[in-house]
Amino acid sequence: MSAPLLRPDFHFMSAPSLESITPDEWRLIQGQRVTFHRELAAEQLLAMLKAGAELPTYGYRLNNFQHCLQTATMMARAGYDEEDVVVGLLHDVAFVVAPDQHGAAAAQLLKQVTSERNHWMLENHALVGERFLPGDRGAWRELRHHEHFAWTEEFVERFDLRAIDPLEPIAPLEEFEPTVDKVFASRLGEGLAQPSGLLDPDKEATG
Ligand SMILES: [Fe+2]
Ligand SMILES: [Fe+2]
Repeated sequence: MSAPLLRPDFHFMSAPSLESITPDEWRLIQGQRVTFHRELAAEQLLAMLKAGAELPTYGYRLNNFQHCLQTATMMARAGYDEEDVVVGLLHDVAFVVAPDQHGAAAAQLLKQVTSERNHWMLENHALVGERFLPGDRGAWRELRHHEHFAWTEEFVERFDLRAIDPLEPIAPLEEFEPTVDKVFASRLGEGLAQPSGLLDPDKEATG
């Protein structure tokens, strides 16, 4: 049984496996892939976040989903721009499944829609945050001369460490969805303009 196509003007590939796909059909499928990602990436990422909406916590008064929402709420109300708010909303999207690597995971998941400043911040926010926590190993010291250290520290100190307060406002996810869609739509329009060379049969090496 075939899965449905995203759009009525899409075409199924006719080759039974990628080993026998023709260059023309490959280009067709890759073109459809660009549209597919552009239309679904934001929605899928929000679905990942929403998957944690009802989770219990291991001690904080907010769960990870609520923490993310409160972070974004605080940043929006403080007047940060749309990219920053989206990054705040999704900074811990991978926390439950990859706690030790959740910053790097979020950085990769958001790579196509983030500036270098926010990419670095996502990647390093947990390490920089150790500065403020008991048991600080001091590993953040090696990062402190990086150009985006100050922003990362600002994010952690002003929002991340504080967004665990059930008495503070938490806006509903719906409030942020149009902003997430907007940031993804505008950035993916640039980043995915050309199909990438992933498994490109026109190239010598594949895979
Ligand atoms: Fe985090
Ligand atoms: Fe966080």
